[in-house]
Amino acid sequence: MVKVDSLKKYYHKSSLFGKVRTVRALDGVSFGIRRGESLGVVGESGCGKSTLALSLMGLNNPVEGRIEIDGTDIASLKKEELRLFRKNMSIVLQDSLGSLNPKMRCGDIVSEPARIFHDLTKTEITDKTVTAFEQVGLSAEYLKRYPHELSGGQRQRINIARAIILKPKFTIFDEPVSSLDVSVQAQILNLLSDLRENSEMTSIMISHNLSVIRFLCDSVAVFYLGKIVEYASVNHIFERALHPYTQSLLDSSFDTSKINGSFAAIEGDIPSPENPPSGCAFHPRCPRKMNICSEIAPCEKTIDGAKVFCHLYQ
Ligand SMILES: Nc1ncnc2c1ncn2[C@@H]1O[C@H](COP(=O)(O)OP(=O)(O)OP(=O)(O)O)[C@@H](O)[C@H]1O
Ligand code: SF4
Ligand SMILES: [Mg+2]
Repeated sequence: MVKVDSLKKYYHKSSLFGKVRTVRALDGVSFGIRRGESLGVVGESGCGKSTLALSLMGLNNPVEGRIEIDGTDIASLKKEELRLFRKNMSIVLQDSLGSLNPKMRCGDIVSEPARIFHDLTKTEITDKTVTAFEQVGLSAEYLKRYPHELSGGQRQRINIARAIILKPKFTIFDEPVSSLDVSVQAQILNLLSDLRENSEMTSIMISHNLSVIRFLCDSVAVFYLGKIVEYASVNHIFERALHPYTQSLLDSSFDTSKINGSFAAIEGDIPSPENPPSGCAFHPRCPRKMNICSEIAPCEKTIDGAKVFCHLYQ
């Protein structure tokens, strides 16, 4: 359903003295997701997760590499074709208030994709909108409300309703619960789990919270500085992770000192994606590094169906 091959996204920034600095936000990423499956994307702040989300949505051009969704090579689409193709795709952003237009009523926000992409009558649009509200557990009473009149959890439900109103084939959730109170997070997670069970939706779930990934995903891609370092089934990742970075993430996620589910406990600073370390980019922080690690970048190895980039495995 989704095939990504050697995806690269570099941001070029001009500094004060005219020197151009390059941030390698995505540096050769490849993976696939089968229809109806959910891929979890994890990694520390700045590793390229949101860049991946925007690139897959065609909102971050130009990119290098190939993105194929439901058999269509996204790069082959002209501007208008891409706009129409987007009705098959949707995204839920992390910031539930910032991603909603404060001047629009919630009913208009949710129905927007139906009005833009489809040649539907007013009644059909209203029916679809009410159904989407019902699916996310909001009564029709909320159609007339403005975003600021809703709680954080209700606003995120509005975001999700807008994302699912056209029953998209592919949805990306970028940190859908991280800005919410713990009590509301559980409601939204149960809602996402129900949607997953009751629809054919293929999805990507980006989260700092590994419990969220374990609850909602079939497979997991672990990102470090714009690259995938391990890519495997959710059971593999949680029961027998191979890469030292994945193991550090798992250890840190059980550290009660972590703040808001972030991976604060991993030792050492995250290197800059403008100047990534040589060889394996994780070597300055890796408890198991060897001489070769700072010199040669590890290639992909497949172990028990898991893909891992680390010199520990032959
Ligand atoms: N528009 C942009 N221009 C320049 N650099 C950018 C831009 N967007 C992101 N970056 C840089 O690209 C890298 C990846 O950013 P990205 O937002 O994808 O990370 P992330 O994994 O989503 O982080 P977080 O967990 O904090 O949301 C970072 O170094 C970031 O500073
Ligand atoms: S390649 Fe070396 S430095 Fe990198 S994760 Fe594996 S052991 Fe650690
Ligand atoms: Mg992000």
